[in-house]
Amino acid sequence: MPESLAAVEKVALGCTLCPLAGGRTTVVFGEGDPAAGLMVVGEGPGRDEDLQGRPFVGRSGQLLDRLLLEEAGLERGQVYIANVVKCRPPNNRDPLPDEIAACRPYLDQQVQLIRPVVVLTLGNFATRVLLDTAAGITKLRGRTYPFPGHPATTLVPTFHPAAALRGGGEVVAKMRADFVRARATLDVATGADK
Ligand code: URA
Repeated sequence: MPESLAAVEKVALGCTLCPLAGGRTTVVFGEGDPAAGLMVVGEGPGRDEDLQGRPFVGRSGQLLDRLLLEEAGLERGQVYIANVVKCRPPNNRDPLPDEIAACRPYLDQQVQLIRPVVVLTLGNFATRVLLDTAAGITKLRGRTYPFPGHPATTLVPTFHPAAALRGGGEVVAKMRADFVRARATLDVATGADK
């Protein structure tokens, strides 16, 4: 077990374990408060993220920031944001099983070190990988799940902001409810609801 996120990041920044390394501009390791109660997990970097080396900085990120603030009362810097894969897949295609497997230890180590109270998964991809299920996000969202292997952590699934940008108001309304659920789960677990 590495002793710090910085140590894990240092290794990840030089990673060549899968073919995505060959197409990246930067490794998008993740960012935020290393002691965050809420950790957000997306799929993988898009174009903007690949260029800037930061997660969720494009249009999806703007919606994420807004929902965090409006529904969970949290600034971006108060949470930790990461992705399942740290390098951009070509043309934003879904990451392949070998790529996910190669990158998985980085995410696992991030969770181990941050020990978040709540992990909010964005979209089918992150939710399926972390819950180890083939079910879809429409069926999975709307409730909470124990985070596999971490009894003190709860997983709250929601849609990916890109789906909301495509799908409009109905999807956003469901996401709002999920962000409220994430905050309520955090407050109950930390006693802040008392
Ligand atoms: N979509 C993701 O899943 N992650 C990002 O970092 C940006 C867009």
